[in-house]
Amino acid sequence: MSQNVLRRRRLQISNPAEMSTPRKQKFCEKGICLFVILVAVVAGIVAVCVVTLTDKNLRQRVPSPPRLEWWKTTIIYQIYPRSFQDSNGDGTGDLKGVTKRLDYLQELGVGTLWLSPFYMSPMRDFGYDVQNYTQVDPLFGTMDDFDVLMKEAKKRGLRVLVDFVPNHTSNESSWFNNSRHSIGKYRDYYIWDDGVNCSTCPDTNFKMPPNDWKSAFRGSAWTYDDNRKQFYYHAYLDSQPDLNASNPDVRQELKNVLRFWLEKGVDGFRGDAIRKLFEFEDVHRNENGVLNLTRNLPGVYPVMREWKHFLDKYSHGKGQEKILIAESYGITNEMRDAYYEVDSIPFNFAFVQKLNPSCKARCIKQIIETSLDGLKEEWWPNFVLGSHDVSRIASRMGDSFVNVLNILLLTVPGTPTTYYGEEIGMKDTFYTYSESRDPAGLNYKEDYLKYSRDPGRSPMQWDSSTNAGFSNGTPWLHVNLNYPVLNVEEQLSKETSTLNIYKSLAKLRQLPSFTNKNIIFSTVNDDIISYVRSESGHPKYLVVLNVGSRDSVVDCRGPPLGVSSAQVVLAAGSSLLGISSYRMGDIADLQAIRLKYAEGVIFKI
Ligand code: GLC
Repeated sequence: MSQNVLRRRRLQISNPAEMSTPRKQKFCEKGICLFVILVAVVAGIVAVCVVTLTDKNLRQRVPSPPRLEWWKTTIIYQIYPRSFQDSNGDGTGDLKGVTKRLDYLQELGVGTLWLSPFYMSPMRDFGYDVQNYTQVDPLFGTMDDFDVLMKEAKKRGLRVLVDFVPNHTSNESSWFNNSRHSIGKYRDYYIWDDGVNCSTCPDTNFKMPPNDWKSAFRGSAWTYDDNRKQFYYHAYLDSQPDLNASNPDVRQELKNVLRFWLEKGVDGFRGDAIRKLFEFEDVHRNENGVLNLTRNLPGVYPVMREWKHFLDKYSHGKGQEKILIAESYGITNEMRDAYYEVDSIPFNFAFVQKLNPSCKARCIKQIIETSLDGLKEEWWPNFVLGSHDVSRIASRMGDSFVNVLNILLLTVPGTPTTYYGEEIGMKDTFYTYSESRDPAGLNYKEDYLKYSRDPGRSPMQWDSSTNAGFSNGTPWLHVNLNYPVLNVEEQLSKETSTLNIYKSLAKLRQLPSFTNKNIIFSTVNDDIISYVRSESGHPKYLVVLNVGSRDSVVDCRGPPLGVSSAQVVLAAGSSLLGISSYRMGDIADLQAIRLKYAEGVIFKI
């Protein structure tokens, strides 16, 4: 008799519709019908009580994690629009190009896009010198292109943050033009000073800057303006005069900028150069290289509060919260806390600033601990690995380490920020001096390689076609020569590629065990760092990363886990060689977790 027939027979026999009537009759005939019903009712009541109690206990034991605000469970993906995707063949990426790649971003699993400036600008600092905050520079497209981008992003459930540049404008903005001519309220929109007489010059009436403050891009931070016969202050280029944030009119002007983009439906802002918003009032004091008169002055916080309050007017309930992130290099935990106190989010650049090839397992552990140390219950951490201002991870830490560092970024508590191209492990690109475009490098002439940010801004590598699929024209910076082998298309087809590992991580980190602030370190030796992420009532996850320069072995059976084996849910080899000795689904012995250098594994317990 075939299996199917057997199954059917069994099904027939257990079909209650076919057998209920004769049986019932038989029981009742024996006079026990009433008794059976009684027993059934009592049993039912008892069962309901037991289930309810157990369920209640269960619910008490397993608190479901509170529903978190959207920005706590998302990944922020930074797009430098010039370098992401060109749609019209002019060699510069644009808004239509971003829209074209939204499906890719959705599949990647990043929930939020942060767009670096695409506003009207003379492009001396590639858009961070804004001429008009509420217009799209034709190089990037039109306002209609932005509206389409927003609509298409929303359709895919993607959030959009835009850059907000309140510290300075372009010297070609109408505000600055009015200020240089001392017109009305614009007179005090910037920081002006008469300067001092040069006592050692042949002409002692010759004017010198009022102090020794330096521009981040070399030289004095003061430039003399012939119209106004005064110096103006600029923390960056002389074509980026600093706004006077103490002036309420300026702050109102900037609020209008926020309003404009909020009404366009953006989900928040990344505030540029926030730590430089204020300078010491007495401009006749020198810094003597200490940089304590031009950075992180306490005036920053009330202004952030003012802007965040303004954003809150547009936060219409759960899921609609608007966020304000601060670019905040070199801050202490005290300053970090001050940003949180005013309800803004200070970017945590600890990985950017402290990760280097000699910062191994214990050093990374310390970075994480310091970053989380002292955070109040309601303050949510974040980690950043790269940006348009620094060298790429593959170049900073070595080609092999992209996978382990992406695992680290996406499995530590808090919101991660990924710079475009890091999901495939793009490398810095070499540019000769004449090919270079970044003023920060060009100003340093023969030393340009030390300061140029161009290497980390090369065009996104989509495929192996001409210019890596970035542009049909001549790219503003040429693509990295490694693009025929290192590109999105190639990596999509390989299961163990850096890109596919990133995608798996993006999914994994949605689990409740990762969307909280719990982290307990397991074994950490010279090379390997391991930690446990957990949420009560959910599986625990053990993350083990070899960030050292040799193969190593650790025993993770002890606390906090106390188990001897676990299942592999993600395994990544060195991003250069690709293969891990662990395979997904394997049950592994935790007594001796052997990892080759730059290998990372996540176990489920
Ligand atoms: C920020 C930006 C950087 C820019 C500078 C001046 O630090 O990240 O790219 O050059 O501000 O706007």
